[in-house]
Amino acid sequence: MQIQQNISLKPFNTFGIDAKAKQFVSATSVADLKAIYASEAFPKKFILGGGSNMLLTQDIDALVVHVNIKGKHILSQTDANVLVECQAGENWHEFVLWTLNNDFGGLENLSLIPGNVGTSPIQNIGAYGVELKDSFHSCKALNLETLEIEDFTKEDCEFGYRNSIFKHQAKGKYIITSVVFKLTTKHHSLHTNYGAIATELEHMNVTNPTIKDISKAVIAIRESKLPNPKEIGNSGSFFKNPVISKQDFLKLQDQFPEVPHYVVSESEIKVPAGWLIDHAGFKGKTFGNYGVHKKQALVLVNYGGAKGAEILKLSQLIQSTIARIFNINIEAEVNII
Ligand code: EPU
Repeated sequence: MQIQQNISLKPFNTFGIDAKAKQFVSATSVADLKAIYASEAFPKKFILGGGSNMLLTQDIDALVVHVNIKGKHILSQTDANVLVECQAGENWHEFVLWTLNNDFGGLENLSLIPGNVGTSPIQNIGAYGVELKDSFHSCKALNLETLEIEDFTKEDCEFGYRNSIFKHQAKGKYIITSVVFKLTTKHHSLHTNYGAIATELEHMNVTNPTIKDISKAVIAIRESKLPNPKEIGNSGSFFKNPVISKQDFLKLQDQFPEVPHYVVSESEIKVPAGWLIDHAGFKGKTFGNYGVHKKQALVLVNYGGAKGAEILKLSQLIQSTIARIFNINIEAEVNII
């Protein structure tokens, strides 16, 4: 393992922010991680996965540990299902394509999500009517205190909307080293209810979709709405969709009858933050070299050279404006560092 000094993290975060790491190391095995955490030479450490869900607002005065463990293999297979273990450092989308090429179903709606496999359970990534938890079986994580590998079942992970135990009790205490998925090998259960998917499949002239067709439809939708981080720096949805009480929702709907919404429970309604930001007039707004994406108001973008602190300030302006106009607090989904 090579410890590098004072390196730019620009290639390691999809926002493309040019913050520096005091020290940097790429860990390619669990043994590497154990050695780093057993050593007393590095009192401060910062764990880095795919860098797709963070906004760097400052340099990192620590050893940045890049989790770069690769590999995937089939653990077991029955007539209907397969258990596949994927190491944390694999790129999420490349893994999804691999499952599709093997005709393993379950992850097709999650195509093209940036980031790595090891960080996908932390926020229970989700898109187009499917969440990671739907195909998640278990994961292995290194306990940073005992340096033992522990197994987390689906129940252990306490998954919720963009949420898991790794954002709460387990935060900062573990590094996920691999994830096991339970996928279908036949009788795939297709999720085409999400409006845009059905429309896209129609455009593609597909009436009897395969899991690959669904993936293609999702890729087409994402490419039409979301900026490619290789071209324009971004972290996907910057904010979570707020969940408000039915009472507050009825007041909002009174004022804005067209507000889109999803019923979460009898007493709670989820409202798209993208709609709120759009209707507050921020969509497509640019502030020099950063701004709000022109096709999806939920995504903040770095057109090149923006500072994380500037984007953070913009996010705060959006939050206070939404609170003023709609009386709703929206929370950041990305981790602000
Ligand atoms: N809307 C607007 N203006 C906008 C954006 C959205 O009016 O600028 C409206 C849309 O017309 C629609 C509603 O808001 O009625 C919802 O929009 P959309 O279907 O695009 O989904 P979203 O709620 O904005 C969520 C996820 C995305 C995921 C999509 C598709 C969150 C925070 N975001 O976005 O996830 O791709 O659904 O499932 O839950 C991500 O997490 O990085 C991400 C991109």
